[in-house]
Amino acid sequence: MQHLVDTDQFPLAQITQIMEDAKSFKQKRPPLLLRDKVIVTLFFEKSTRTRSSFEIAGKRLGAAMVLFDPSKSSTGKGETLEDTFTTLCAMEPDAVVVRHSENDTPQMLADMQVTPVINAGAGNYAHPTQALLDYFTMLEHFGGEVQGKTIAIIGDVVSSRVASSGIRLFTRMGMKVVLVAPKQFMPDRDDLPQYTSLDEVLDQVDVVMSLRAQLERHETPHFEDYDAYAKEYCVTKERMGERDILLMHPGPVMRNIDISDEMLDDPRCKVLEQVKNGVYVRMAILKLLLLDS
Ligand code: CP
Repeated sequence: MQHLVDTDQFPLAQITQIMEDAKSFKQKRPPLLLRDKVIVTLFFEKSTRTRSSFEIAGKRLGAAMVLFDPSKSSTGKGETLEDTFTTLCAMEPDAVVVRHSENDTPQMLADMQVTPVINAGAGNYAHPTQALLDYFTMLEHFGGEVQGKTIAIIGDVVSSRVASSGIRLFTRMGMKVVLVAPKQFMPDRDDLPQYTSLDEVLDQVDVVMSLRAQLERHETPHFEDYDAYAKEYCVTKERMGERDILLMHPGPVMRNIDISDEMLDDPRCKVLEQVKNGVYVRMAILKLLLLDS
């Protein structure tokens, strides 16, 4: 039984397989490879993209998707997370996709070894399927090779599980990662170049990944005024100029704070392509964990 808690659990051959399967699924819809499978999604935090993407990915492969809604469950009667999980697993699903505010939850559930667990976002620790779809989007854009390319990750890096998983995967795949953030948003690490000025890095990067300020993870407000933040860190057309830079964002985008309206409509911006690719990458992940492992 194989789980996906973060991408470092996958050997390079499996990452390559996911990329190849996702590419082939995007070119031609596959047969219903998972038509006898049942997958439960268990989201304890809000989601627009990841949850629907997993649902569509599972359905495109013929799996039955069971959407567990904690707000309408016995969680409200005091049932523990472990009891909820073991109760659902007693119904013998073929996998559980989980999102939770605690960093350790996916690993804790995976360690029970009752069903494959797929991490759909845990605290600020990991969001592996986002990292894989971002990697796929960059491979597609750069013709299949990203080794040596430089990506600037901008914004609330310290609170971001997208940044955490992305940094681990992108550096492993040979990319250079630089962090751009005000000191409130910068993680305490010395292994990556850090900048406070976005304008300073734009001439040296191939990719810009903007991040949302994760207000729900801030115990106290980091900024009183996000307009002041936007003046320094919003990705605008004026700031980007004509530079040939791939612009990504995991969503949801805070318009005109993370990225300007104008740049969201610019062909360099691949936010919706990332969403589209997410379905194909999650199909490939489901195939790997439910059929191939
Ligand atoms: N990128 C991402 O995780 O978005 P959602 O929170 O909408 O799933």
